[in-house]
Amino acid sequence: MAALGEELLTTVNRLQDLVFNTIGNDSLDLPQIVVVGSQSSGKSSVLENIVGRDFLPRGAGIVTRRPLVLQLINVPTDEGIEPHTPSAVSSQGEWAEFHHIPGRQYYDFTDVRKEIENETARIAGNNKGINRQPINLKIYSPHVLSLTLVDLPGLTKVPIGDQPTDIEKQTRTLILEYIAKPNSIILAVSPANVDLVNSEALKLSRQVDAQGKRTIGVLTKLDLMDHGTNALDILSGRVYPLKLGFIGVVNRSQQDINGNKSLQDALAAEQEFFRHHNAYRNMAHRCGTQFLAKSLNTTLMGHIRERLPDIKARLNTLMGQTQQELASYGDMHFSGKEHRGSLILQLMTKFAGSFISSIDGTSS
Ligand code: GDP
Ligand code: NA
Ligand code: MG
Repeated sequence: MAALGEELLTTVNRLQDLVFNTIGNDSLDLPQIVVVGSQSSGKSSVLENIVGRDFLPRGAGIVTRRPLVLQLINVPTDEGIEPHTPSAVSSQGEWAEFHHIPGRQYYDFTDVRKEIENETARIAGNNKGINRQPINLKIYSPHVLSLTLVDLPGLTKVPIGDQPTDIEKQTRTLILEYIAKPNSIILAVSPANVDLVNSEALKLSRQVDAQGKRTIGVLTKLDLMDHGTNALDILSGRVYPLKLGFIGVVNRSQQDINGNKSLQDALAAEQEFFRHHNAYRNMAHRCGTQFLAKSLNTTLMGHIRERLPDIKARLNTLMGQTQQELASYGDMHFSGKEHRGSLILQLMTKFAGSFISSIDGTSS
């Protein structure tokens, strides 16, 4: 992924391997990132920019009609593959798989988007209905952080098509279910061309994160604000309090999408926008998709640091148990297959202890 940092990637991969081989799979418990907001506020666009791949259905009206649980899985780089450049067609080293189509690997991300559209229609119908049953998609790549991202249907007020009369309530319940998890980082997406007091994203996130500790405000469509107005007040935190702040972005417009504007071109145009804008040029380094990704990095790193004492404690317990176990075998049985596991475990935990100390900067 172009967007999330390599250093974090390396650290997390090593830590995740280690935790997997010692304590078990879920101890690192990286947060899942969930996008919320009203319909067409730009949620899918933001998510796609963060991942750095074109694969999500986007557009005016209700496009995302089932939750998409997107699991990014880091795989080691293959030797001899060209350096990665984001494009609709992926390089050999990365592919996607759907839970509902076991065994099929997608190498072309345009097909991934088509399958999301087909699978949405299969369960949620063709007439704007939404369905709470998630689509599970895994992306394997050397360029991603092993992390889960969730794209959700947006809030709508007025039922259309096959939507039930209580569509608003249903969507609200669905969204709250995902963002209520204390382990979720909420990307609360609000369009800059709508007054922030009407932001559905902020109303929802406030319900589960009253102190604004795990909510990042994302202000989209800065390019569509009325001439003569700007969002400086919001972006500098004077309008709505969020510990992680507000970040302004400019995603691809519908015209850009129709004209197949590439992700790279869009990111370059976004940077230009902030650098040349009278109101934003002094804060351009704190605006845009790249900065949003950086902020996510920092937040994730903070989360990992918080988890380290617990991981350490668990490793210590495990190490104690292993030593006891080894002692109980006595000296002579180490050639047995069943005991080799314990020995490896012991070596692993020792290594784990020193590695963890090295990244959280304290002695164990
Ligand atoms: P979602 O419904 O919240 O997932 O929103 P989408 O990502 O599908 O975007 C909805 C529409 O708004 C699409 O036509 C996008 O091209 C457009 N859009 C999203 N963000 C921006 C932005 O920052 N600027 C402009 N001009 N259009 C945007
Ligand atoms: Na939309
Ligand atoms: Mg969407």
